[in-house]
Amino acid sequence: MSVLQEMSPNVKQMRQLEYAVLARQAIRIREELKQGVRKPYKEVIDVCWGDPHRAGIKPLSFVRQVLAACLYPQLVNSDKLPVDVRQRAQRLLQECCGGSVGAYTNTRGIPEIVHRVSEFITRRDGGAPSPPENIYISPGSQWALTNMLKILVNSKASTRTGVLTPVPCHSTTTLSLEGLGAVIVPYYLSERQGWELQVEELQQALDSAKGVCNPMALYVINPGNPSGHVQSRKSMQEVIRFVSEKRLFLLADEVYQECVYGENSEFVSYKRVLAEMGPPLSDTVELASFHSASKGYMGECGLRGGYVELVNLDPAVMKYIYTIFSMDTCAPVLGQMALDLMMNPPQPGDPSYPLYDVEKQPIRTALVHNVKTARAVLNSLPGFCCQPVEEVGMKPDTFYCSRLLEEAGVLVSPGCEYGQKEGTFHIRFCIMTPQDIMEELLKRLTSFHTQFMEDFS
Ligand SMILES: Cc1ncc(COP(=O)(O)O)c(C=O)c1O
Repeated sequence: MSVLQEMSPNVKQMRQLEYAVLARQAIRIREELKQGVRKPYKEVIDVCWGDPHRAGIKPLSFVRQVLAACLYPQLVNSDKLPVDVRQRAQRLLQECCGGSVGAYTNTRGIPEIVHRVSEFITRRDGGAPSPPENIYISPGSQWALTNMLKILVNSKASTRTGVLTPVPCHSTTTLSLEGLGAVIVPYYLSERQGWELQVEELQQALDSAKGVCNPMALYVINPGNPSGHVQSRKSMQEVIRFVSEKRLFLLADEVYQECVYGENSEFVSYKRVLAEMGPPLSDTVELASFHSASKGYMGECGLRGGYVELVNLDPAVMKYIYTIFSMDTCAPVLGQMALDLMMNPPQPGDPSYPLYDVEKQPIRTALVHNVKTARAVLNSLPGFCCQPVEEVGMKPDTFYCSRLLEEAGVLVSPGCEYGQKEGTFHIRFCIMTPQDIMEELLKRLTSFHTQFMEDFS
């Protein structure tokens, strides 16, 4: 018997991701395509993760040029790269220990980059101060969130720690919560109201936790994933009053802040709204706000760069936070640099600006176009409704995704991965793709869905 049989019961209880089945299926299909097996499509469109590059978006040259020069410093003197790229790379290298991206950095990140993150936050939030000592750069934002949960979740307490969590919710967060032994206290976003967060739902969730667990935190994703909903200032103020009244720690996952496309929606950070509300709330509500280089126009998920900003935490707790972040020594240096470049892109007048702008604009245009066309096409399809498919041992939406992958070569993820109201089924896909890929995807989805409805409805 393996010693690992004795593994943590929390880990044993972690839900197996439905994605694993679809991923294996996609590997087989790709292999068959390589071997020349005839299918109605030539390649798989993979939009099942919130991963822009995987979905076909090209990296921004400016980012890759600076990183290339940091990795291979001879390029700093090469006239093949624009002068501002070389200057950026040179400055970044000077900020690295030993002048190399191969060296460890401080636990919170390269001090100058942390400083620039703090300046970015202050600019974004209309001047609300952001002391650099409250910022931790991490290997992706999810890692920082898991660290915060490690601090919040008391695995030794007789009553387990509860965390109010949205449904639907980005799936790796629920995995982190399960792995740490927290109780997930679900609050349902209102699908009818465009996946709005309603404070009455938070109250209901809290009521449902009575006698079950000790709710310690509220996790919000704004802009939402997978919902895409952008919270209004008013809604955020309500949430802030709620957490203050109920003495909950606020975990604000704001990694999609650049991806706001609705005409009347605007991203405002929780930090900003809290600061605007003034004392006593602005001095007392404990908040951790997360951001990442993985999303937005840059979409550099694989470089693993994110940060958390902590607001109103007790200095005694900050000491433990430092310790817990020290466990991994530091975030990957290229990820830290990517974060820096995301927050300080080229400006008009810089030699790199024209190309940066030429590359960025189509991503924005594609995002707006994709949202519009995807919504129009999906709304024109007869209701996504599946019969339970117990005989193949799959949940109905996983079954739908599996057939879509097999027959149309489109890899999306099933709603059950994110949580959904009983009796409802969803699919979720990344809309940050080039326009032609989205159009091809929607064409394949439409013809697949028509056939699927004939076969199963
Ligand atoms: C809401 C949300 N938060 C966090 C993450 C993870 O981001 P990172 O790559 O910074 O860990 C994702 C990834 O899709 C996400 O959707």
